[in-house]
Amino acid sequence: MIRAAILTISDRCSEGKREDLSGPAIESILKEKNIKVCTLRIAPDEAGRICADLIDFSDEAKVDLVLTTGGTGLGPRDVTPEATLSVCEKMVPGFGELMRLKGLEKTPNAILSRSTAGIRKDTLIINLPGSPKAVRECLDIIMPVLPHARKMMRGGGH
Ligand code: MTE
Repeated sequence: MIRAAILTISDRCSEGKREDLSGPAIESILKEKNIKVCTLRIAPDEAGRICADLIDFSDEAKVDLVLTTGGTGLGPRDVTPEATLSVCEKMVPGFGELMRLKGLEKTPNAILSRSTAGIRKDTLIINLPGSPKAVRECLDIIMPVLPHARKMMRGGGH
């Protein structure tokens, strides 16, 4: 069974000024797909805090998958892709590319997400945009690839 962690990245949610709807939306979709959600955390839009959580999920909790939501746009405080890049050993740009391409069928704003993905140790980290709607659309797009991604990361054949 794939073990996952979810990180909602939002100043307002971390301050308790807005309810986190996207993290729980990811959680329910993962559970439907029989993926075990080990933890759901909220971080502000601060690179240091985001990196610390990503490193903790990878190095300590050793989850297979981290899904982040939020902080991928063009706002002055949006730093999720940069934080992800800085902790990953290998990048997997195809996840962001596919979400932007297929997302265009839903909204032209899909190209405003700079989401990326990468691998730290045995953990695949994937950025999703921030809204619950975007989360659902993007998970529909990437979920079918996850089992094969995990197999390859564990040294399995193609
Ligand atoms: N992708 C999909 N599939 N559906 C959406 O509704 N919203 C876009 C984009 N990607 C969206 C999407 C919008 S409006 C923004 S601003 C960017 O994701 C970045 O979102 P974030 O800053 O919350 O991460």
